Amino acid sequence: MTILVTGGAGFIGSNFVLDWVLGDHLQEGEAVVNLDKLTYAGNLENLKPIEGHDAHTFVHGDIGDRALVKSLFEQYKPRAVINFAAESHVDRSIHGPEDFIETNVVGTFHLLEEVRAYFASLGALDQNAFRFLHVSTDEVYGSLGSDDPAFTEGHRYEPNSPYSASKAASDHLVRAYHHTYGLPILTTNCSNNYGPYHFPEKLIPLMIVNAQAGKNLPVYGDGQQVRDWLYVKDHCSAIRRVLEAGRVGEVYNVGGWNEKPNIEIVRRVCALLDEMNPRADGKSYAQQINFVTDRPGHDRRYAIDASKIERELGWKPAETFETGIRKTVAWYLEHRGWVDNVLSGSYRDWLEKNYSVRG
Ligand code: NAD
Ligand code: DAU
Repeated sequence: MTILVTGGAGFIGSNFVLDWVLGDHLQEGEAVVNLDKLTYAGNLENLKPIEGHDAHTFVHGDIGDRALVKSLFEQYKPRAVINFAAESHVDRSIHGPEDFIETNVVGTFHLLEEVRAYFASLGALDQNAFRFLHVSTDEVYGSLGSDDPAFTEGHRYEPNSPYSASKAASDHLVRAYHHTYGLPILTTNCSNNYGPYHFPEKLIPLMIVNAQAGKNLPVYGDGQQVRDWLYVKDHCSAIRRVLEAGRVGEVYNVGGWNEKPNIEIVRRVCALLDEMNPRADGKSYAQQINFVTDRPGHDRRYAIDASKIERELGWKPAETFETGIRKTVAWYLEHRGWVDNVLSGSYRDWLEKNYSVRG
């Protein structure tokens, strides 16, 4: 048996593949085929711990390459597809939305078309077992007021950035392929992840990396925007659980019940760095915090109501924010080589473009 993972060299996808191959939940003999385009966010170094492992096959390619995807279905006959592949950074979508439409919308469409053809070619037993799991985001639901209840699966879609609009479009396509063609789909909408292998353009790893480099810690606007943080390994366990027992056609919200304003996150990261790797001058890393121009259209608050996945599938996060953030800061301090290799790439050009205009 085999599963096909897309985007498995990125942050969440690589954590998922590593856990699948190395974890004790690996179904005996069940291999992973990992299709990834290796954009700036894809990094084969993330997969080093399973280099040469029999249960992992890496394929360099695009989810929108129909001939390639078709050949993978023919060769590996996967019993499931887990679709992580996407452009994922909101700020990049503001500077240049085209790649987001290309991969998140058009790419997902092409992938779905090939899944549809493959599904139609299966016998009844294999059709019964087959699943397409689409990994999506809480950002499709838009922004909450401070007293609003958390997002449930029934919340209306109100995406506000080109990124979230492109993810919303992909969610709608996935839903339509279930209703129209009977594809056995599952969708997960998750809150902000953090943890190992997180690309340092996103808030938490950027703060750790900048703090260590003696640079400013750029907090957008007033820093009071609220996100709901989930340790990445908990997101991976939720996806495994939904794949295993989720009801076909259903959507599951995934979150950590960890709502926090950005400035609190940055202060917590600084305090952990003060403890684990103090500055030479004895001052706090918090001195490096710098409030900068806000993100255009910045969503004020996200919060996930994760009671459906807990009630129906018995899933709960294993980490609290405290335990998860401590592990994360420690991981970055122990993996300076990984950080250095990432920083020497095209990421440098992006930093210049994003922060030179913020003042
Ligand atoms: P990421 O940007 O770190 O990784 C994306 C991966 O997809 C990269 O390896 C990249 O090379 C690959 N990719 C991009 N375009 C591709 C294409 N056309 N064909 C094949 N591969 C392609 O993203 P991430 O943070 O790991 O997010 C993974 C998924 O989870 C995304 O769909 C994202 O929307 C969703 N998600 C992310 C978060 C989060 O906090 N990071 C939260 C909820 C949902
Ligand atoms: O909610 C899930 C989403 O979380 C995922 O769908 C996205 O793929 C993922 O990138 C993430 O989106 P955010 O925009 O919430 O994440 P980011 O790390 O970019 O920003 C988190 C918050 O921190 C947000 O309110 C913007 C703010 N921020 C971000 C950066 C990069 C800053 O204040 N300063 C920064 O330099």
